Formats: sequence, C-alpha cells, structure tokens
Amino acid sequence: MTAQWIDGREIAKAIRLGVKEEISTLVRKPALAVVMVGENPASVVYVRNKIKACQEVGITSIERVMPQDSTEECLLETIRALNEDNGIDGILVQLPLPAHINAKAVLEAIDPNKDVDGFHIFNTGKLFTTGEGFKPCTPAGIIELLKATGTPIAGRHAVILGRSNIVGKPMAMLLLQENATVTITHSHTQELAAHTRQADILVAAIGRAKFVTADMVKPGAVVIDVGMNRDENGKLCGDVDTDAVKEVASWVTPVPGGVGPMTIAMLMVNTLTSAKTRQ
Ligand code: GUN
Repeated sequence: MTAQWIDGREIAKAIRLGVKEEISTLVRKPALAVVMVGENPASVVYVRNKIKACQEVGITSIERVMPQDSTEECLLETIRALNEDNGIDGILVQLPLPAHINAKAVLEAIDPNKDVDGFHIFNTGKLFTTGEGFKPCTPAGIIELLKATGTPIAGRHAVILGRSNIVGKPMAMLLLQENATVTITHSHTQELAAHTRQADILVAAIGRAKFVTADMVKPGAVVIDVGMNRDENGKLCGDVDTDAVKEVASWVTPVPGGVGPMTIAMLMVNTLTSAKTRQ
C-alpha cells in the first residue's frame, strides 16, 4: 500500500477562506496581538506566517516584539494592557520564552476570553471537562485533518507519541471527545513499538527526526506528523520516516505542508470566534 498525502495546505486554505468570508460580514474586524520575546529563529518564522494569515483573512494584527532580556514584569504589564484593550480579541505569546521568564505565570496572565492559543489553565480545564473553551490550535487542526480525509475516529485506537501541554495532552482530550480509544506514550513508555503498532491513528509529536519507522506502523494506519526537525543533511523533516512509512500507512501528513498550516488556520478560527463574542 502507498499512502495518500494529507494536504494540510489545501485544507487550511479552505478553512481560512471560510474565516475570511465570515469576517467580511462583521461590523468590526477582529484583532490579534502577537507577543514575542527575543528573536528565536523558528519563532520569527512562525510569527511571520501567523501575521501573513491575519492579513489574508482580514484580521488586524498587532505585533509586540520585546528584547530577549525583557523582565517578566515588563511582559506581564504588556499582557495586562492588551487584556484591558477592548479592541483586542486575541492575545498570543509565542513560545518558547527565554529561560528567565516563568512561562506558566505569563500564560495565566492572559485573559482566558482572549486566549486564542487555548493554553490558559481555564481553557485547559474546560477542555478536560465540558469540551468548551478555546482549543489549542495544533491538536484542533489535526482533528480537522482527520475529518477532511474521512477517517473514522469513534471507536478507533489513537496512539499519541508525546505528552506536551501544547500537543500531546490536548490531542488526547480532543480524540477522546471524538470517542476514540486513546493511548499516550512518552519517554518512559516500555515496548513503544508494541503500542504504536496498534494505532489506527498515530500522532507523532516528540521532536525527534524520523523517529517513527515503518515497522512501528500498523498497515493502513493514518499517520499525523507534528515534528519539525532537521535531518542529518540539514533538510526539514518531521518525526516520521515518511519515505518508508508511506508504504505501510493509508494516509500520511507531509512536513512541511501537513500540520503546520492547520495550526495557523485554527488560530484564525479561534480569533474569529473570540471577536464574535465582542461585536
Ligand atoms: N510555539 C510552538 N507552537 C506554538 C503555538 O501553537 N503557539 C504559541 N504561542 N507558541 C508556540
């Protein structure tokens, strides 16, 4: 079997188009504040792409780039001002933050009603209980990718590699809401391949280049690659050895062009959702 590619760029484009159409009917354009501390090269690229997407769909973006040595208090003050600004619908603090800043304290300073990344503990709590609130963009985008391919989720076994707060844990909750049977694996998991080989849906989010090999994949599985790494030749690659895995799986996401564009599309969706509550 040779897997089909899941074209995240096309699926994300359709979602952005829907957002753009809906924004054109609003009295006031949504506004998203993007805060970045320092200029981590990967963050610079992500932020640039987020701002480009805002321009495309009609969201006003406000960029606050703060020096690498900014104090936590200064960042908290910036967030407080954005919280109080009625013209701002969404606040995003790009991660990672410099080591001297307590990221948890910063994320919890964001008004949960403007937390379009879905990282505030209030939204995390809602995700784990009622399923309401802002959903983290990457896992929410993965659910959209699965639905776009017609992959049944209910009753299927989904195995997640990685337990981060940004991807692994919220991914498990979203899959559970879709009635999947969910396994989270991590660095202490024993017999890892025995788990991954049971996956109808395999989500790799561990940040290790080409870690998932063909022998770890069940024939016909849908494989979602969240990784963004460099291989031994410096070429961009994911957590999945896609060349080999695509001979076993039924669907595979490419890197780049799979999950990445979906994260940004879902950020646009969340910002629109927020703006609609403040029109
Ligand atoms: N760093 C890596 N992914 C993300 C994300 O989705 N949001 C933010 N704010 N920072 C990130």
